[in-house]
Amino acid sequence: MDNDLHIKNIFTQGEWYHTLDYKNSSSNGTFDYRNLIKNLNFPSMDGKSVLDVGCSDGFFSKYFLEDLSAKFVQGVDINKYDGSVAFEVLNSYKDVFEEKYENHDDFAPLKKSYGELGLINSNKFLLLKKIFNLNMDYSFGSIYDLSDFEIHDITFCGSLLEHLRDPITAIEQLFFKTGDYCIIDVSNSFNYKLPFINKPFLKYTGSGGNFYHYSDNAISLMMKNIGFKKVSILKKYKIKIEKYDYKIPHTLFIGFK
Ligand SMILES: C[S@@+](CC[C@H](N)C(=O)[O-])C[C@H]1O[C@@H](n2cnc3c(N)ncnc32)[C@H](O)[C@@H]1O
Repeated sequence: MDNDLHIKNIFTQGEWYHTLDYKNSSSNGTFDYRNLIKNLNFPSMDGKSVLDVGCSDGFFSKYFLEDLSAKFVQGVDINKYDGSVAFEVLNSYKDVFEEKYENHDDFAPLKKSYGELGLINSNKFLLLKKIFNLNMDYSFGSIYDLSDFEIHDITFCGSLLEHLRDPITAIEQLFFKTGDYCIIDVSNSFNYKLPFINKPFLKYTGSGGNFYHYSDNAISLMMKNIGFKKVSILKKYKIKIEKYDYKIPHTLFIGFK
């Protein structure tokens, strides 16, 4: 089998968070941002370096490099790609999530293809770096401690805050590493009219992988109090979970240093 067939094998048989194209094959992602991403009002990243925290498979990093002309992306994720849980879960939920994560790791069934491509685990960020020749690096790390990373012109954190027990420390860590601006995408933001919707409101949603839902005002206020200036919303949008035909509301924020 040549490399192309191994890549196609991983794209078509693997577990993917995002839908991505490779030649005439596509991955079967949980989320398909391929068209939507162009309408999210991301600013140009021409010549800038980006710290993408919670980078997952690198779909957004790739877009920043290829479409928005960023010069380099440093991806950071808590995923060790060894089948262990890559989310902050309470001890009481650990067993359930350990089982779920083991099933998500496609390394065992696709070991031959990963191996032939020189990859030692199922880290899709490194797969994309390799096959698309992208100027991006991956580091294992947590948003709660970004001290080992340099300040980057842009910081980005997509769909992670709602999974954290401590969003304030997380945003503060992003602030410390932001040179120009920070973009935060929050999923499951409230998008319906409630009497408190204009207030900085958090709804506790349980601790099985999701901790809070936020009103837009809550995120804006956290960002402002931490020190970000000119905090605004780039886009409110919905994206379908491909498996369930259900759309999740998101809000994309920007704040400047
Ligand atoms: C829901 S995915 C979002 C992926 C991508 N950023 C996006 O916007 O589609 C959240 C990612 O954050 C990672 N993650 C979870 N907890 C983290 C933490 N404390 N620090 C860094 N990454 C974390 C997960 O492993 C996962 O890849």
